Amino acid sequence: MVIGKILGLILLMEMINGFRFGAVDGLSMDYYLRRCPLAELIVKIKVIKALQADPTLAASLVRLHFHDCFIEGCDGSVLLNSTKQNKAERDSPANLSLRGFELIDEIKEELEKQCPGIVSCADILAMAARDAVCKAGGPLYDIPKGRMDGTRSKIEDTINLPAPTFNASQLINLFGQHSFSAQEMVALSGAHTLGVARCSSFKNRLVGGLDANLNADFAKTLFTTCSASDTAEQPFDETRNTFDNLYYRALQCKSGVLDSDQTLYASAETKGVVDSYASNKVMFFSDFKRAMVKMSMLNVKQSSQGEVRQNCYKIN
Ligand code: HEM
Ligand SMILES: *[C@@H]1O[C@H](CO)[C@@H](O)[C@H](O)[C@H]1NC(C)=O
Ligand SMILES: *[C@@H]1O[C@H](CO)[C@@H](O)[C@H](O)[C@H]1NC(C)=O
Ligand SMILES: *[C@@H]1O[C@H](CO)[C@@H](O)[C@H](O)[C@H]1NC(C)=O
Repeated sequence: MVIGKILGLILLMEMINGFRFGAVDGLSMDYYLRRCPLAELIVKIKVIKALQADPTLAASLVRLHFHDCFIEGCDGSVLLNSTKQNKAERDSPANLSLRGFELIDEIKEELEKQCPGIVSCADILAMAARDAVCKAGGPLYDIPKGRMDGTRSKIEDTINLPAPTFNASQLINLFGQHSFSAQEMVALSGAHTLGVARCSSFKNRLVGGLDANLNADFAKTLFTTCSASDTAEQPFDETRNTFDNLYYRALQCKSGVLDSDQTLYASAETKGVVDSYASNKVMFFSDFKRAMVKMSMLNVKQSSQGEVRQNCYKIN
């Protein structure tokens, strides 16, 4: 009796969620509630454990999800390994330091034991990025689930990723193609509150004349980093493993690491947003959450257009 009522309630909740999110793309917040009740918990526990052992993985997971969604939609394509016949996305030069694949594979293995063939790799990645943001001190948010995994992963598609040399208008333009506003683009760039860039991603800023948008002391810092090697790491802000708004404060001090970071403060179109987020963390978190949910639904595949991979690194 009671169980029946609870099941009925769950079904009703799913229907409501279905109307809110699923009508267009078959996604819902409670997608795994009956299909694989432990899915969310398993992802969360594995992510928290992994981040306790290595907090730098939070950045990796968020970046993996971003790359996944901006190429061919959030379909797990970034996770596929190259094969003899096909060079995959992750073998592109743009893959610089992409990490976290092993963790996703490990989560997948556990989920396959619990509920074989149910939880897609694209969903695992989206949930893992969400849980990583939260564990790193960022906002707590939920995302609709039910993405299918794609079968295409081509090295040449990575041309669609933004380059670290892009100026604000190029960034606005590229993110606009994915229906993001300039403000949403600035909010998403705030993910650079986590992690590092390699020297090879910003050394272009250190040659030639003085860059008026680069703080002289910070230029020395970048120079010192690069004197070690091309793969030497420079944190984006002072707290590389904490999700906060210090990234925007760094931009105010002309201490952004990439051209594409500092340009947000150099352009009149985006400067005001940077100022707002630098002084108002609540506003940044709230905008970031909404933009991440939106990003997590980019060109999501319905069941007829994709599969649930058995292994995240290869198609079935
Ligand atoms: C606005 C355009 C963007 C550009 C040009 C860009 C470019 C880059 C580059 C060049 C790196 C450093 C790679 C390396 O040298 O190792 C990086 C790192 C990173 N990016 Fe972005 N990115 C952009 C937007 C985003 C967005 C929207 C997200 C997520 C929502 C994101 C998340 C990250 C994270 C977390 C890292 C650190 C990775 C780590 O430490 O392992 N980025 N990005
Ligand atoms: C996928 O490729 C990477 C190197 O690109 C390799 O280290 C890894 O073992 C491969 N994974 C599988 C499961 O083949
Ligand atoms: C990134 O691409 C290079 C080749 O350009 C490849 O050797 C490396 O294994 C790739 N990294 C990952 C994480 O797949
Ligand atoms: C941004 O870069 C593009 C392409 O290099 C260039 O045409 C444009 O003038 C630049 N915009 C600004 C404001 O510098």
